[in-house]
Parts: sequence; C-alpha cells; structure tokens
Amino acid sequence: MVPERQHRTPLFDALVALAESRKLSFHTPGHKSGKGISTRFRKFVGPKIFEIDLTTLDEVDSLQKPVGVIKEAQELAALAYGADRSFFLVNGTTVGNHAMIMATTRPGDEVLVARNAHKSILAGLILSGAHPRFFLPEFDPSWGILLNVVPEVVKEAIDQYPGAKVLTLTSPNYYGIAADLMRIVPDAKAKSLVILVDEAHGPHLSFHPRLPLSALHSGADLCVQSTHKILGGMTQSSMLHVKGNAVDPYRVASVLQLLQSTSPSYILMASLDLARMQMATEGGKLLGKAIELAEDARERINRIEGLRCLTEEEVKGMGDFGLDVTKLTISVKDLDLTGFQASSFLNAEFDIQVEMADLQNVLVIVSIGDRRDDLHRLVLALERLAGRLAGKPRASLPSLLPSFEGRLLLSPREAYFAPCEHLPLRKAEGRVAADIVTVYPPGIPLLVPGEEVMASTIEYLLRLADYGARIDGLLDWEEPKIRIVG
Ligand SMILES: Cc1ncc(COP(=O)(O)O)c(C=O)c1O
Repeated sequence: MVPERQHRTPLFDALVALAESRKLSFHTPGHKSGKGISTRFRKFVGPKIFEIDLTTLDEVDSLQKPVGVIKEAQELAALAYGADRSFFLVNGTTVGNHAMIMATTRPGDEVLVARNAHKSILAGLILSGAHPRFFLPEFDPSWGILLNVVPEVVKEAIDQYPGAKVLTLTSPNYYGIAADLMRIVPDAKAKSLVILVDEAHGPHLSFHPRLPLSALHSGADLCVQSTHKILGGMTQSSMLHVKGNAVDPYRVASVLQLLQSTSPSYILMASLDLARMQMATEGGKLLGKAIELAEDARERINRIEGLRCLTEEEVKGMGDFGLDVTKLTISVKDLDLTGFQASSFLNAEFDIQVEMADLQNVLVIVSIGDRRDDLHRLVLALERLAGRLAGKPRASLPSLLPSFEGRLLLSPREAYFAPCEHLPLRKAEGRVAADIVTVYPPGIPLLVPGEEVMASTIEYLLRLADYGARIDGLLDWEEPKIRIVG
C-alpha cells in the first residue's frame, strides 16, 4: 500500500502556485521568469521552465535552512527510501560524496576505502584531510572489468587497520555489480565503523525486489544516490540519506551548507520531489517494465554470434555479488573490436548512444524511460554490427588491468597542496602524484594524490589512451604531463 502522502509533491506545487500568482519580481534570477532570456533558448525549451526557475523565497523555502516545502519534500523522500533524514543535492553525487567524508572524518583520520571509489570520494579526502587505507575490488579478466569488493577482503582491511573510523564502499558499480552488503555491514558494525556507501548507480534499488538490496536496507549509515542517473531527476540532482545514530544529521546539514550553492536550482529540486513521488507511487510497475525489457534484450543479445551480455547468474558465479539487471554490459571482444570502437560505430551508423565504453565492452542503461522499440533497435544494430564482422580473422585483444600497486606516500591532501611540478607522464615513474588521474567514465582513480607513480600505471594509461579512452587529470595531452609533488 502506498501511503497517501507519497502522492504529494509539495515543492513542485509551491513552485507552480508561485509562478501562476504572477507576482512582480525584483529578485534573482535576472531573466525574471524568462522575460529576459535569449529568444533562441525560450523558443527551443518553451516558456514554462523559466517560470519555475526561482530563487529562495518564503513560498518555496530555502535549501540551506529548510522550514517549509523543501523540508516536507525531503521528509517524504526519507520516508520513501527508509531513511531518517534525506537531503536534496544540486551538484550530483559528487557533492554528496564530499559531504559524507567531510561529515564523518577529521584531518588525519584513517578511512577504509574500496579502491573502486569514484574520484569524488578522493576529492572528499582532499577536502577533509583524512587518510585513505585502500583495499582492492576483484577483477574479471574474461570481461575485463572491475567487479566489486568481496566480504573477505573488506574484513581483512578492517582487521589490518583497527584505528580506522569509517568505511566507504561503492555499490552497485557502474556495471550494476553490487557488493554483498548484508555480509560486509555486520563486520564493519562489529568494529563500530561508520559505513558510507556511494550508491550513485542505485537510486531505484529500494523500489523493486528483483534488484540488489539498497545500502540503507543493508544497514549503511549514509548513502548518496544520483537520482538523475537512473530515475526522473534532472542532471545534477541527487540525494544523500542518513539512517541511525552513527552520524549526526546536523553535522551533515552543516557540511552541506558549506558545500552547496546558496542559489540552488529549484528546477533540479522539483525534479527530485517528482522523481520520489513517481517511485513511491508507481516505482514497482515502472521498474518491472524496465527490468523485463532489459532481460529480454539481454537474452536476444546473448543469441548473437560474437557478442556476450553479462547475466546475473554469471555475476553470482564470480563471487558474492549481485547484479542490477537493468544494466547491459555487452562484450564485443570476440568481434576483435574495442568497446570504444563499437560505441563509435553504434553512434555513427545507427544514431545509438551508449552510456560508456571500455576496452572490451559497451555499457547500456535501460531505464523507466525506455520503450520496447528502443531495445529492439539496439538489438538490431548489434546484430548488424556482429554480422558485418562475422568470419573475419580475429587477433585477440589484450586484457589490460589497472595495477593499483603504488604505495601511498603522502595523504591526498598533503600531496594535492604540496609544491609541485609538471612532468611528462612517461618520466614520472617513482615520483609522487599530486592529482587524481582517471579514465572517465567510470572515473575510478588510477592515480591518487600522494601515490607513487608506477611504470605499470603509466603503461596502462598510455595504452588505454591509444585505444581511445578519455583520461582526466593529465595536462597537455599532446605530450601527456602529470602534476607531481616537487
Ligand atoms: C560511482 C560514482 N559515484 C559518484 C559519481 C558522481 O555522480 P554525479 O555525476 O551525480 O555527481 C559517479 C558518476 O559517474 C559514479 O559513477
């Protein structure tokens, strides 16, 4: 039974009411309900959106100190997600990850960090001055992807660093592979660790039993979700949830006041209000449809010669993991193509854009916005792609692995703020990185500020760049340079 309150959308309703009241505005934003906006912009998007692009006013409440409709909208989100407090975010899960770390650590504190963390977790550590103790996720050579962390490795890290106060995990990962939180959380709780989960890819998990268990339902203390990535939130809209007594919600609120804009977008916040209502009232039905479409496409793709699409069974066979089945990881390795090439091919020849490519795979997100025809078109394009390459001689692609073997010689904060120099990447072996270097997406740091630069990492980055990956965190791409501690 859906509680009647979940049909309410207090923030959106207040925005519409204020827009319709046609009050004379002598406040920001300067476009004044669209009257001053560029004509081309208004012609393309229509006039309505500008009428609710408002600022902090009594009628629509304040994100920094909510007492009215934003407070109620956040309370409804907390109820829907099973949280004690929920906070709306307007700079994505990025700012939520910064806030989780800032709210739970002090300079010098030890934090256990799963090494598949997004770069925003590292940025949080730079901001707070806490010191990461990394532990590694599993890697699957056949698919060429990082899986997730297994309970045994997390337990080892917990035992190895008894001084740590906080544990951060990323689950599910970009490919939808979830860690077994039900086994990890009790080990962490037994040592009184605060558990933070970057659940950027899991804002929908709570609303369908077929999906992996959500972080909050597994006992995490804090989690952040990119509502915009999977559900109806506008780009940049996310939520941070707090559950239990391990973290003071006032501390979280205070950190968010520090990190978030004092002019948050009401369009983004309204989209969070509506996305929560949509999930709470009809999430099961909408997600059920998306799951059915994804499973059907997965089965069809797995019948195409030369292609493989990752299944839940396979993922479970690789360790204690779960799979968000709305993600389709499609391996093109047996066609002697890189994922980057397949992605370009789908775009150029079929006007199909995928979420991400890596060396061996393309990743497709199926969501509540997809229709049967869309998936049918994807499968047809994949059939064409495979058909064209069938029977061609195949040189097998190398399976490139990130090494993650550099030692952390300084804390990320010390390294980030240390005097530094720019050095060609090829000459940086043995030096200490001062920046976060990632392949984006997925944005997992291959070099962390404070980490020794290993020859294997240099080789990995250069080869991936040759294959067409986008490397972030380097300077001067002609002759790639890296900021190193001087
Ligand atoms: C695991 C993970 N965490 C955090 C983020 C950042 O999220 P956002 O884009 O909402 O800021 C991403 C983005 O891709 C991500 O993959």
